[in-house]
Amino acid sequence: MVYTDYFFDEPVFDLHDGGYIPLEKTDLPEKPLSIPKLLKPDKIEGNDVYYTITAQEGETQILPGKKTKTWGFSAPLLGKTVVFKQGVHYHIHLVNELPEVTTFHWHGLNVTGPIVDGGPHAPVYPGGSRDIDFTLDQPAQTDWLHPHPCPNTARQVWNGLAAAVIVTDPEEAKLPFPRNYGVDDIPIVLQDRNYHDNQLDYKTDYDMDGTLGKYAVINGTINGVFNVTTQRLRLRILNGSNRREWRLHFDDDHEFTQIASDGGTLPEPVELTKLMITTAERDEVIVDFGDKKPGDVVTLMSDDVPILKFKVGNYTRNDVKLPSHLNTIPKPVVTPGSKIVHTVMSGMDDQVRLDGKLFDMQRIDRKQKIGDTILWDVTNTNDMDKGMIHPFHLHGCQFLVLSRNGKDVYPNEHGWKDVVGVNAGETVRIAVKFTKFGIYMYHCHILEHEDTGMMAQIEAYDPDHEHKFHLISMEEM
Ligand code: C2O
Ligand code: CU
Ligand code: CU
Repeated sequence: MVYTDYFFDEPVFDLHDGGYIPLEKTDLPEKPLSIPKLLKPDKIEGNDVYYTITAQEGETQILPGKKTKTWGFSAPLLGKTVVFKQGVHYHIHLVNELPEVTTFHWHGLNVTGPIVDGGPHAPVYPGGSRDIDFTLDQPAQTDWLHPHPCPNTARQVWNGLAAAVIVTDPEEAKLPFPRNYGVDDIPIVLQDRNYHDNQLDYKTDYDMDGTLGKYAVINGTINGVFNVTTQRLRLRILNGSNRREWRLHFDDDHEFTQIASDGGTLPEPVELTKLMITTAERDEVIVDFGDKKPGDVVTLMSDDVPILKFKVGNYTRNDVKLPSHLNTIPKPVVTPGSKIVHTVMSGMDDQVRLDGKLFDMQRIDRKQKIGDTILWDVTNTNDMDKGMIHPFHLHGCQFLVLSRNGKDVYPNEHGWKDVVGVNAGETVRIAVKFTKFGIYMYHCHILEHEDTGMMAQIEAYDPDHEHKFHLISMEEM
């Protein structure tokens, strides 16, 4: 079956918001879609791999004329793509060449907080560095690296800091998915921006409910074109926007197949013609151009605005049928006797709260024992003016989405997730299990909401190993 409508209901779309800025169709010249380069290791010693990642300033030719001052990870804009292999021990040297403090957050990686995962407690000061190391022990998926300094995450991402992270594993490698990076397997980082005399100006464009821009900027390219040289193309779509939900579809309603969500391969492929993605979510899809001939152009749209063209070239026929079963996702076994956790996202603008509170870096808001599987009911109470979607994100784990207001979850939510869009007036039930002790953030992933304080922290504890964490204060940022 092919789903031909968005899973989110139309009334929740953010279009009704007073401050909403729709994407605009641009008449700027077409440009080849920029594909981020792969980050090369500094050295490899057996199972130990060493990387350096530098948060840096740069300049990028985004619009005709003057270059735009941009920020990136080991690149002028966005960042080089990092590829991690399951089971490898990584040592990463994090360098900050920016004029201000930042952090390096591994969104989606199952690494310990609050330091290794790069939340607000792991500052790297200007001119400074930090070394982290971890063994990668999670399945293949698309994650991302972004800054997380309190309260400047939104501005730093707006300036350009966001890199794709690809995790590979031997199980996923057996599936008939395209995986030739840059050729038939490409990251699609969705962002929206405005420019003022070709420059970013976060202050001018700032919106408390999430800053929006009229230009669709994909991998740093406006009006991009990708030359398709294979029948099947895998898109690792990452919503790297501060706030925008993208409602994706092709101009000819071309079908595509979703194969993965945030935490990796879905249990079965989901055929669609329309896909909505909220901030920080990742959706991997395969587009099969087998019905197209060389010279055909297929345009990816968000609402009615063209955002990226695919020019079909000569390709070798490669009719692959995906297996109907892709991945086994274990049914969550809730820890007997455990209580349901209720967490509430409320308000808009400066009234946003998480559980009625604003973020406090030195307050631990909850505790959960590692290894326990606990149900969390995540509620978005905000339904005045139709409210807005708050994309709920949890560090340090991948969760399963069990129900939406007691009803079935969306067909593409049967895999692991670390972000879930919660509609206004809705309660989403998720099953949460931490495997590593530490302090983890949970928050709304509209970056301006997070910066305003719609964020809290949980200690995942190991009763056999008491651990004291040093929680820094805002003044130390
Ligand atoms: Cu992608 Cu706490 O963030
Ligand atoms: Cu995160
Ligand atoms: Cu929010």
